[in-house]
Amino acid sequence: MAEALKGLAGSVGIVTGAAKGIGEGVARTLHALGVKLALADIDEAGLQALAADLGGDVMTARLDVTDGAAVEAFVADAETRLGPVDRLAHVVGIQKFGSIAEMPEADFDAMFSVNVKGAFLTVQAVAKRMIPRGRGSIVAIASTAARTPRVRQGGYCASKAAVAQLMCVAGLELAPYDIRVNCVSPGVTETGMVQRLMATMANTDVVTRGDLDTFRVGVPLGRLARSEEIADVVAFLLSDQASYLTMQDVVVDGGGALGA
Ligand SMILES: NC(=O)c1ccc[n+]([C@@H]2O[C@H](COP(=O)([O-])OP(=O)(O)OC[C@H]3O[C@@H](n4cnc5c(N)ncnc54)[C@H](O)[C@@H]3O)[C@@H](O)[C@H]2O)c1
Repeated sequence: MAEALKGLAGSVGIVTGAAKGIGEGVARTLHALGVKLALADIDEAGLQALAADLGGDVMTARLDVTDGAAVEAFVADAETRLGPVDRLAHVVGIQKFGSIAEMPEADFDAMFSVNVKGAFLTVQAVAKRMIPRGRGSIVAIASTAARTPRVRQGGYCASKAAVAQLMCVAGLELAPYDIRVNCVSPGVTETGMVQRLMATMANTDVVTRGDLDTFRVGVPLGRLARSEEIADVVAFLLSDQASYLTMQDVVVDGGGALGA
């Protein structure tokens, strides 16, 4: 990552899902770039460990993004303590496995609640504050699963397609206020979520080399992504360096979707 990205240093940013995985990577990258951070997650211990490692100069809050009143209170508190929020990286997401014929209704509901409603509530709480100020940048993490079907991931794929389209509409509605909204869609990235995915597979070559039985193509770059590689793209999109980019879904997948 460049040592500086225009507009980031000294600005105030929120990262949700920051306790581990991609969110942690985004938090570390934005912190290194001088963003004043408010970090949220349901995993309070994980947040505190990260905050201590970053030197303690970040705000942290235990937050369930499916609770609208709690999201609103968190964003209000972040503005009181840090100043106007100009950057949002919404990273929270959950994944549950099961064919459409067999997936329990509760698992389907959980993914739509956390992945879709959580994105709606978080973006709403931030966007309504950005509108009167006429500035801001928002990035949500979708997934290549939004456009590439995956067996036993119907609920997850559908929820991520919903996130991508929700952000596209948000970008359209917020463009008149100079607020940009983009998605980043990672391919398979080395995190706890992926360890759980790998546990459903015979071996990890299924991901990097592909698997005809599940219609999965491989990853041309031949390896999984690292969280920092996703975070770099998020940071660029959040920065003023991406000032003419909005309503895009940037796929960061080592070529795994074959450019489709
Ligand atoms: N890892 C991948 O291969 C991959 C690929 C594409 C997209 N994604 C997406 O990237 C995002 C991050 O994934 P990850 O791999 O880092 O996952 P992860 O499971 O490692 O981390 C997710 C974080 O979200 C938090 N969280 C879960 N539910 C929450 C809630 N209701 N409120 C607040 N926090 C909550 C968890 O505590 C955790 O810290 C997700 O949206 C995921 O769908 C991941």
